[in-house]
Amino acid sequence: MSVHADLRDIESRADCERLVRTFYGRALADPIIGFIFVDVAKLDLDAHVPRITSFWETILLGAQSYGGGAFRPHAELHAKVPLRAAHFEQWLRLWSRTVDELFAGDRADLAKAHAHRVGRAFHQRLQGLASPAAPAGLIVTQHAPRR
Ligand code: HEM
Ligand code: HEM
Repeated sequence: MSVHADLRDIESRADCERLVRTFYGRALADPIIGFIFVDVAKLDLDAHVPRITSFWETILLGAQSYGGGAFRPHAELHAKVPLRAAHFEQWLRLWSRTVDELFAGDRADLAKAHAHRVGRAFHQRLQGLASPAAPAGLIVTQHAPRR
């Protein structure tokens, strides 16, 4: 149950943008994941916000304003700095907290649920990709036969 009984649901692109801007304001300043946006990706927030807003507008409001291909930039990022479970957990924690502070309702719930699905799927897909600091693939060791 939400403590903010007076909050309304996500209803427009402007709502999606407010959610996204509030989230990135926090993500960029976050001690665990902030450096990935600021130092590694050197994120241009003004270019990024409309794309992410379209992503959520598509998922939550059926807008079809997002063209897809969300995974690829994360694979490129992962090649520079391994995106670990703890990074995804923190991303999702910040996202859920931001959603809950600003909105309440079915779409707000969907925003949280879908982020968790995508986060899980991204993390799983990244496990199979190479990262300099996190070698992918099987580690094969050799053992002498039992005598
Ligand atoms: C109204 C319904 C839905 C819409 C509009 C929607 C939309 C989207 C969009 C736009 C993406 C990004 C795709 C890309 O960038 O290529 C995505 C990814 C994803 N969605 Fe949904 N989704 C919906 C329902 C669901 C449901 C019901 C599930 C699972 C039960 C789900 C699971 C996922 C997963 C796992 C990904 C990440 C896929 C990947 O690894 O790239 N979605 N969705
Ligand atoms: C460890 C967690 C994550 C980090 C550090 C991260 C970081 C980033 C960065 C730096 C970009 C911009 C890449 C570029 O344009 O150069 C990006 C793009 C994006 N991220 Fe994430 N992300 C994370 C998780 C997620 C999750 C869980 C979702 C979905 C719910 C998501 C959705 C997106 C989308 C839709 C884009 C835009 C892709 C496009 O340009 O079309 N991210 N992310």
